[in-house]
Amino acid sequence: MKGPKGVFVCQECGYESAKWMGKCPACASWNRFAEEVRHEAAPARMSGRRSGSGRGLASAAVPIPVGQVISGDEERLITGIGEFDRVLGGGIVAGSVALIGGDPGIGKSTILLQVSASVARRIGPVLYVTGEESARQVGLRAARLDAECERLLVLPETDVVSIIEQIYAVRPALVVVDSIQTMDYAGLESSPGSVGQVRECTALLMRVAKEQGVPIFLVGHVTKSGAIAGPKVLEHIVDTVLYFEGESAHAHRIIRAVKNRYGSTNEVGIFAMTDSGLEQVENPSEMLLSERPGGAAGSVVVASLEGTRPLLVEVQSLVARSVTGTPRRTTTGVDYNRTAIIIAVLERRAGFAIGMEDIYVNVAGGVALNEPAVDLGIAAAVVSSFRGVPAAGGTVVFGEVGLAGELRAVNHADVRVAEAQRLGFGRCVVPGHNLKNMTRRPKGVEVVGAASVREALDAVFTGVRS
Ligand code: TYD
Ligand code: MG
Repeated sequence: MKGPKGVFVCQECGYESAKWMGKCPACASWNRFAEEVRHEAAPARMSGRRSGSGRGLASAAVPIPVGQVISGDEERLITGIGEFDRVLGGGIVAGSVALIGGDPGIGKSTILLQVSASVARRIGPVLYVTGEESARQVGLRAARLDAECERLLVLPETDVVSIIEQIYAVRPALVVVDSIQTMDYAGLESSPGSVGQVRECTALLMRVAKEQGVPIFLVGHVTKSGAIAGPKVLEHIVDTVLYFEGESAHAHRIIRAVKNRYGSTNEVGIFAMTDSGLEQVENPSEMLLSERPGGAAGSVVVASLEGTRPLLVEVQSLVARSVTGTPRRTTTGVDYNRTAIIIAVLERRAGFAIGMEDIYVNVAGGVALNEPAVDLGIAAAVVSSFRGVPAAGGTVVFGEVGLAGELRAVNHADVRVAEAQRLGFGRCVVPGHNLKNMTRRPKGVEVVGAASVREALDAVFTGVRS
């Protein structure tokens, strides 16, 4: 061994220190420092190729006026799976590196195998590197997904240098690395999955991607806290970060872009897990409302937005007299604290004596709604259950509830109303300010503007007898 230089790296956030520390000064986590030994030659070069090229690119960069920088759009590779292309902002950008994270078993390997097969059939060879599963397991899955194709090549390998050699040999149109946490760079002594390994392997792959213009997808595991395991550092390095969300108990899956250097982070792709893999869902509202009980108290349809896409979702509530004297509140799919505020507003500003009731709120279909526009949906569902009165038929609501009991405007009201119209709802109860600013009113939908929660609720229950 030639006197290696050790550095202690926080496995949580990547903070580096010359000495071991119990608590990380950057992210405050405990006992996460691990020593990583770097050999002198370690970082930049791979297996002697292009020796002496050092770190600089071919020539020194020269400043250019910003107006002259763009030379047409980036070259994009269309995967042919529309929902996937959509999240990426219209296909995969040549030479980009994307990280796709999500809970185990959510479907990361499945979607990437489907994407790989589609690209292999349409465009050219795809290299699917598997470090977690054997080639046989990938083969079996491919057979199940009808993803078999001559040009879809499986490479069971974890040594990053060998993988890079294969990329140069095969010259694929797309590379998938499943997963980055299993990759190993022999120049580092730390074990696969450590911050140093993950960072170095990503950096090496990134260089190949840029040099060859080949896009690379990296699968990353997600920890319980929701961060891509350990290597949060990775999110800063790569061009695109996608998250795969959904609950394993439900069929639908949402792929969300949380970072995208080549497009908006507002886009989502919606899929459903079936026996033959992930299927695109072009009509998510329809799917989410398909099991809705008609005319039931406590069920209200809210127009939410996923990225730029409207999504009609059913918010359900059950209000029951508390037997313990300490009222219980439980929420799934909506924010707990937000719901507590809405309950307090209903009690104090709208005169519903629900303070001593047990209140449960649930979003049907396992969707998580995280925008204030669903406030009115929560309020209406709670009141509907409390009064035992269903909302007026064909009504969709949205609006943010303020502490004074006012109903505040939300963004993209017209998109939400248009979705309600598309699905045959006859009435929308919306914030008054939104109604005022609405330029065109869709035909066949009555849009009711309300200034307060109280007014909105009156409108929601209009024509319904209690
Ligand atoms: P997988 O892609 O292996 O998840 P990840 O790579 O994110 O860990 O998905 C595995 C789950 O998907 C598993 O629970 C079975 C289910 N599945 C289906 O329901 N249908 C299918 O066609 C396939 C391939 C998987
Ligand atoms: Mg997997």
